[in-house]
Amino acid sequence: MYFGVDYHPEHWVFPLAGTRDEPESRWKKDAELMVGAGLNVVRMGEFSWGLVEPEEGKFDFAWLRRAMDVMQQFGIKVVLGTPTAAPPLWLAKNHPEILPIDECGLRFHEGTRHAYCRNSDIYWDYTGKIIRAQAAALGDHPQLIAWQLDNGIGGHRTEFSFNPETRRDWHAWLQAKYETIDRMNDAMGSRFWSQVVTDWDHVPMPMNAPTVHNPALVLDWMRFSSDTCVAYIRCQAAILRELTPSIPVTTNLRALTRHFDHFDMADVLDFVSVDSNATIKSRCAENACEIDMLRSLKKQNITTPDGDAGFWVIEQKAGHVNWQEVNSLVRPGVVRLFTYQSISRGASGILYFLWRQPRIGSEQFYGGVLTHDGRGDNRAFQEIKQIGEEMKLLAPAIQGTRVSAETCILYSHENAWSLKLPRQPNKHFVYREHLQMFHSALHDRNIPVDFARPTEDLSKYKIVFAPSLHMLASGEADLLKLYVQNGGTLVATCNTGLVDEHHIVPDTGFPNNLTDLFGMEVREFDPLPVGEENHLTFKGNFPTSHLHPAKTWCDLIEPKECEVLATYAKDFYAGRPAITMNTYGLGRAIYIGTMSHQYFYYDLVAWLRQICGVVPLLKVPDSIEVSLRERDGTKIYFLLNHQNSSVRLMFYKPMHDFLTGQTISGNYDLPPHGVLVLDERAALKTDAQPPPQNEKVESVEALGDLENVP
Ligand code: GAL
Repeated sequence: MYFGVDYHPEHWVFPLAGTRDEPESRWKKDAELMVGAGLNVVRMGEFSWGLVEPEEGKFDFAWLRRAMDVMQQFGIKVVLGTPTAAPPLWLAKNHPEILPIDECGLRFHEGTRHAYCRNSDIYWDYTGKIIRAQAAALGDHPQLIAWQLDNGIGGHRTEFSFNPETRRDWHAWLQAKYETIDRMNDAMGSRFWSQVVTDWDHVPMPMNAPTVHNPALVLDWMRFSSDTCVAYIRCQAAILRELTPSIPVTTNLRALTRHFDHFDMADVLDFVSVDSNATIKSRCAENACEIDMLRSLKKQNITTPDGDAGFWVIEQKAGHVNWQEVNSLVRPGVVRLFTYQSISRGASGILYFLWRQPRIGSEQFYGGVLTHDGRGDNRAFQEIKQIGEEMKLLAPAIQGTRVSAETCILYSHENAWSLKLPRQPNKHFVYREHLQMFHSALHDRNIPVDFARPTEDLSKYKIVFAPSLHMLASGEADLLKLYVQNGGTLVATCNTGLVDEHHIVPDTGFPNNLTDLFGMEVREFDPLPVGEENHLTFKGNFPTSHLHPAKTWCDLIEPKECEVLATYAKDFYAGRPAITMNTYGLGRAIYIGTMSHQYFYYDLVAWLRQICGVVPLLKVPDSIEVSLRERDGTKIYFLLNHQNSSVRLMFYKPMHDFLTGQTISGNYDLPPHGVLVLDERAALKTDAQPPPQNEKVESVEALGDLENVP
C-alpha cells in the first residue's frame, strides 16, 4: 500500500533551506524523515512549470530529477504532477488570450493558479509541449509510479470561461449535439422569450444578463463546460499514455463541489484520486458520503500503481486549512481517525497534504506533517509516524480487499446541475441535504452503500435510492423500470421527473415516464416555507419510532394501482397519500412524496432492511462507524469512534486486532477518536489485557458476535 505526502522540493532550497554550498541538502533530511514516518511515496511537481521552463522553450527538469534521485536513495516512489495548473507568467505575457474571461466579459489576470481558458488552442499547444518535455525528461525515472494530470481541476468556477474560443467550441458542441438549428430550437424551447436563432453563431453563452437564462441552455452549457474539462484531461492522458504507457494516470477530485461530471472524468483515468478536507468536517457521515461517492466513480478497469483496487486520497489534509475564518488546530487522533475512515471505505493509497508548512506563498499557515521548523518532533509528525507503523502491519491484510454494497444511491451530475438552476419551486430545497439524509440513514446503521449513475447496471443492488431525480431522461426512466421489473426495490422521492433531458416539462404526468412504475401520478406539489410542516400518518406495517413531519415539499398524489403507506395529516390535502408502494414486475417501487427529518429515514431503512433482507455489518453503539473490506471470505472490519470520549464495546467472541496483533474479547473501551481493525482470525500473540479504562464512558452497548445482526 502506498502511504506518503505531497512534497514541494522547490520550496526547500537555499535560502529557504539547505546552505549556499549545498542548496538542496534539505531534501535528504526530508527523505530521511519520511522513511522514519513509514512513508513510501511522494507527489511532486504539480505547480513547477515556471521552474522547469523558466523561459519559453528552455527546459530545466534537472532539479526535479535530482529530487527524484534523492527519493530513490531512500526507496520512496514518486507521483509526478503535470504542471499545467499553474502556468508560468511568461506564457500569459506572450499570449494574454489564454487568460479566462468571466461572465461579465472581464478578463482574469495572471499570477495565480488556474488562470487559463481551457478552450484556448494556444494553451492546449503549450500543455502538449510541457507534458512531452516532462515525460521525455523524467518519464524513465525508476521511481515514477503515476502521473497526476493538472491539479484540482475546476474550483473557483474555473470550469467556465467566456472567451472567443469558448464561444467557438460551444457552437461546435451544439452543432454536434443537435445537427440542425431547428432541432436545437425545438429541444431548447427557444421560442420562449424570443430566443430562437437561425445561425449557430447567435446562440449566447449564459453570460451576465438582466435576468435568468433559458434553463435548457444553461444545462447544455454545463454539459459543454464539463466536456471541456474532461477533454482537457483526456488530452493530457493521451499524450502520457503514448510516451509512458506503463505509468497509470490519475487526477485529484473533490466530491459534490466542482462543476463537471466526475463519472466522465473517472472514465478517462486509470484510477481516481481524491482531495479530502475531512479533518475539518464536523460530521463523519458527510465525509463518508463523499468518500462513497468518490469510490463509486470508477467501479471497474482500475489500474493503480500497485495493482490494487480502489482509489487514492492523494491530498489528505495533515491538519488545519488556511481559508476558514478561524483555522483551529486539528485535535490529536483526528487525522488518524479520518485516514482510517478513507481506508475503511476503500482507499488503497493515502498521501498527506502537505509535507511541511510552507515558508512562502499563500498556503503558509496550512497544517503540515512537519511544522515550519522542519524538525520532525512535532505532534502531527508523531501521529503520522504512528499511522505509518500501523500501515506496515495492515497493508498486506487489506491488499485486494474491497468494499461491497447491496444498496446504492443514484446520482447524476446533470440532475444536480438542473437542481441548482434558478427559479426552482422551492429555493430551500437543497439536493445535497436530501441526499445526505438517505446516506446518513445507511451510514449511521452501518449499511454499506455505493453511488451510481441511473444509467449503470443496478441489478446487483437489493435497494436503490433515487432522491429527487428532478431531471430524468427517458432512457434513465426505462432503466429504472427494468431494474424493478427484474426484482429490485426502488425508492424515489418528491421532485422527481419534473423535466426531461431537454429540460422540457412532460404533459403525461409526474414523475415523467414513471407513473406506471409507481402506480400513481403526482397531480400538484406544494413547496413549504422553512419552518412550516405537515405531518405523516402511517398505515400498515411501516414501523415508526417518532412522529414524522413532512417538510419542504409535499406532492399531491393520485393513487392508481399503488398501496398507500402514509398520508398527510393536515391542510386541504389531509388524508391524501404521501408515501406509496407499487408492485411492478418482480420488484417494488416506493415513492416518498415529501421530505422529513432524519429519524424518518432511519425508520425507512429499518423497514426496508426487513423487507429486502439487507443486514447491517455489526451492532455497535451509535457513535461508532463500522465499515467492511472483504476478499474471498476474508472480512476486515473497521470500527471508528468519532466521539471525543471513549465508547464501551462488548465482544461476545474474540477478535484479532490488526493494529496490535492481540486478541480482544469481553469489554473493550474504544478511546476518543480510537480505531480498531479486526477480523475473526485467532490472535497471533497472547491475549491482550483490556486497555486502561477511561473514566468517562459515553455509551455502553453490546457488540453482537460477528454474525450479521438483522
Ligand atoms: C487542493 C490543491 C492543493 C492545495 C489544497 C489546499 O485542491 O490541489 O494544491 O491548494 O487544495 O486545500
